Amino acid sequence: MDPLSNKRIVNLLLCWFFIGVSCNSVEKKIYVHLNYTVPCVRLLNATHQIGCQSSLSGNVGVLHVLESEENLDWVLKTGRNPPYLVILESPLFTRSIMMKLKNGSGRVAGVAVVAPNSNPLEGFSPHTTCPNENTGVYSENYDPTMAHCNVTKWNPLGNGLAYEEFDFPIFSLKDDNETQIIRQCYLDHNRPVNGSTPQYPLCAMQLYSHMSAVTDTATCMRRNDINFSISPEMVCDPLGDYNVWASTRPINNTEKGHKMWESVVIAAARLDSRSFFFDIAPGAESGASGFVTLLAAAHALRNATQQAQPNRTILYTFFQGETFDYIGSSRMVYDMQNSQFAVDLDNVHSVLEIGQVGLRADSKLWVHSDPVSRRNSSVDEEVAKLIANLKLAADKSNVSVNEPSSSQPLPPSSFQRFLRARSIPGVVLEDHQSAFTNRFYESMYDNAEYLNMSYPPNLTPEEQLEYVTETAKALTEVATTVARALYMQAGGGEPQLSSISADPNIVTRLLYGFLVRSNNSWFQQLLPSDLMSQLANRPTNLYVGVSQQFSEPTLLVQHLLANLTGSVVNVTQDDCQNQRQDENDKENKHIYYYMWVQGAAPPNSTQREGFCIRSTVRLSKALSPAFDLREYTSKDYSTWTESRWKSIKGRIFLVASHDLEMLTLGVGFAVLLTSFVLTYVISSKADMLFSSGREPTTATY
Ligand SMILES: *[C@@H]1O[C@H](CO)[C@@H](O)[C@H](O)[C@H]1NC(C)=O
Ligand SMILES: *[C@@H]1O[C@H](CO)[C@@H](O)[C@H](O)[C@H]1NC(C)=O
Ligand SMILES: *[C@@H]1O[C@H](CO)[C@@H](O)[C@H](O)[C@H]1NC(C)=O
Ligand SMILES: *[C@@H]1O[C@H](CO)[C@@H](O)[C@H](O)[C@H]1NC(C)=O
Ligand SMILES: *[C@@H]1O[C@H](CO)[C@@H](O)[C@H](O)[C@H]1NC(C)=O
Ligand SMILES: *[C@@H]1O[C@H](CO)[C@@H](O)[C@H](O)[C@H]1NC(C)=O
Ligand SMILES: *[C@@H]1O[C@H](CO)[C@@H](O)[C@H](O)[C@H]1NC(C)=O
Ligand SMILES: *[C@@H]1O[C@H](CO)[C@@H](O)[C@H](O)[C@H]1NC(C)=O
Ligand SMILES: *[C@@H]1O[C@H](CO)[C@@H](O)[C@H](O)[C@H]1NC(C)=O
Ligand SMILES: *[C@@H]1O[C@H](CO)[C@@H](O)[C@H](O)[C@H]1NC(C)=O
Ligand SMILES: *[C@@H]1O[C@H](CO)[C@@H](O)[C@H](O)[C@H]1NC(C)=O
Ligand SMILES: *[C@@H]1O[C@H](CO)[C@@H](O)[C@H](O)[C@H]1NC(C)=O
Repeated sequence: MDPLSNKRIVNLLLCWFFIGVSCNSVEKKIYVHLNYTVPCVRLLNATHQIGCQSSLSGNVGVLHVLESEENLDWVLKTGRNPPYLVILESPLFTRSIMMKLKNGSGRVAGVAVVAPNSNPLEGFSPHTTCPNENTGVYSENYDPTMAHCNVTKWNPLGNGLAYEEFDFPIFSLKDDNETQIIRQCYLDHNRPVNGSTPQYPLCAMQLYSHMSAVTDTATCMRRNDINFSISPEMVCDPLGDYNVWASTRPINNTEKGHKMWESVVIAAARLDSRSFFFDIAPGAESGASGFVTLLAAAHALRNATQQAQPNRTILYTFFQGETFDYIGSSRMVYDMQNSQFAVDLDNVHSVLEIGQVGLRADSKLWVHSDPVSRRNSSVDEEVAKLIANLKLAADKSNVSVNEPSSSQPLPPSSFQRFLRARSIPGVVLEDHQSAFTNRFYESMYDNAEYLNMSYPPNLTPEEQLEYVTETAKALTEVATTVARALYMQAGGGEPQLSSISADPNIVTRLLYGFLVRSNNSWFQQLLPSDLMSQLANRPTNLYVGVSQQFSEPTLLVQHLLANLTGSVVNVTQDDCQNQRQDENDKENKHIYYYMWVQGAAPPNSTQREGFCIRSTVRLSKALSPAFDLREYTSKDYSTWTESRWKSIKGRIFLVASHDLEMLTLGVGFAVLLTSFVLTYVISSKADMLFSSGREPTTATY
């Protein structure tokens, strides 16, 4: 080896140990850091781990741009320089190829998928064919013929990739200049010509996404407890967030489990979605179409429910974490049963859930109900009334309300968690008769483009915000139908119906805000100034995330719902933020929630004029009861946790020779081994600490 490469090796060694500290001069020549990388991360449940991860020091592999499925042979068998880091164009990101790569993981260092700039023509869903198969109502006990999607496979295109475990990192890259650099590097250095082995230096890529948690939730929660006794270092966190709810009649929120004289009609939608990759989950059809419709319906009902208050209260609920075994709805039902929620389960009169409603063919809506609970005649009667109300509400509009076959069970829905507890009458509104019409269920392509939200060219973002799309018009009709049906369901009279209609301007702004960019002038006005950093120039990510933080969709829906159902009150910022009562009511903090939002700036000023909103909007925990009960192997409740990680990054560089590569790998191993030894030493010490700390307490028993 010449002196220069010796020097490089020393430099590289230093880099490995003090990444990014002492090696700038050399590193800049060798490395290109990837700026936009979205990883797939490790999730765990009671029995499995899914997702991806790299080794502690990142996985390094020689770049190989896969051209076709046949080309896999090079990666899995014939290529002479394994391990390979495989670059996949999105059409090749299929189950068949991914499972072959998984099987040959000794020769695969990682995978980078180039996300296309427009949606594919054929369907793609990395979800399972039977979402939340084991945690809905259709168990063997409820009705064996309906368990496991026996009657209808709801998501026939589901390939289950998002529930597989990979022991190498998988990243998504945007198709842009960065990706072009990668392709060029491959063409210049690595492309085999006429089957010959390419010569060093080769272009290599390194991906870092090391995950701290392993095996399953019980294991990682135990490690959390152990670690906590030495340092507050966690290895995994439960998935979860907050449900958002509001009522048309104020409910004393301090008084839990209160049996009220009036009953409650629940209007529900889900807030979350997911995709294969961590932070791209637009959920346009699977999530947004439903909750945007419900927000617009709540707004349409504001005047009517204030002027001619119907006898039943309408409870708007937006459930978080439903993708992961119904986290939000199972928690609310649990709280309702255990006097931890303002409304008792006994007070629930009926449930109207809005599912996926954005892709209606022939303007048809389908009302799904549960054939098992309908065998009881009193439940059947109430369900029939609810359906009749929906049909009446859709009368004279472009929407037609239809019923699927009476033997078909409910699609995956939050309502199933209510049914698990009790035979409550209810229906789920969808745009599909049997299997989903959504061809991109829980994938990154379930986006604004898929909902056909298109804007004339050359509009500024502010003009787009106000532009009423065809999609918005169609959803407005659904929202009007929902609002009118809810009003009748709550006991309101028919004469008021014609005054209830949803506003297409609101619907179009909501769709724009969630599916195109949340950083727009409307959303800015409705948030407090300290939450401005939550807004972004991209679609909202609907992945639920971990329970320590409020996620973006929760905060947005909370503030939007307050604006759309609440009223502006004249109190000072201080009083507002401290939940102090205004003059009209006593003990308001039990009844209302006050929030100070920053408002708009008047035309000739840059100073925003904030105001105080009084509403019944509240947040309630959407954390699976399994974590409160410490039942980490629960079969009834969601047990999903997300692993923690330290860094997610990627870079490409040239590998000078095989020796050098081996050396870097060797050093990587050394780092890994050292850390294993360290971890072992620390955790064995922790065991000692842990048990010696507990002994005195056990001794007292
Ligand atoms: C996995 O790889 C082994 C050889 O390494 C092969 O025999 C086996 O058929 C492969 N399995 C699948 C499912 O491809
Ligand atoms: C439903 O499942 C049971 C057993 O799990 C099976 O015997 C039955 O044939 C299935 N029915 C249908 C319609 O697939
Ligand atoms: C955990 O997830 C795996 C993968 O999706 C699934 O096969 C398994 O049934 C789940 N375990 C439980 C207890 O839900
Ligand atoms: C990408 O490359 C093109 C031409 O090579 C250039 O015009 C454009 O500015 C580049 N974009 C970025 C984000 O660097
Ligand atoms: C990443 O960003 C930095 C600065 O923002 C830029 O200098 C660098 O060229 C970018 N890398 C790529 C591959 O585009
Ligand atoms: C590859 O092989 C073909 C025929 O076998 C030959 O014509 C061509 O020149 C070869 N290309 C290179 C770059 O060697
Ligand atoms: C709400 O409930 C709390 C706790 O039961 C009670 O102290 C308070 O007086 C109630 N407020 C109203 C307005 O009913
Ligand atoms: C609600 O009532 C107010 C006046 O009381 C009116 O200005 C507003 O337009 C009404 N909104 C709807 C949606 O009907
Ligand atoms: C609402 O309740 C009142 C009093 O309980 C009753 O007189 C009235 O008939 C009810 N209205 C409807 C529409 O049920
Ligand atoms: C809702 O927001 C609009 C601004 O878009 C504002 O004019 C209106 O007063 C707000 N209403 C409430 C009740 O917050
Ligand atoms: C708000 O309250 C202040 C003092 O309480 C009063 O001076 C002001 O006129 C009120 N504003 C409105 C719009 O009612
Ligand atoms: C804003 O401008 C208008 C006329 O353009 C003027 O009448 C008004 O006083 C101005 N308001 C403030 C707060 O400067």
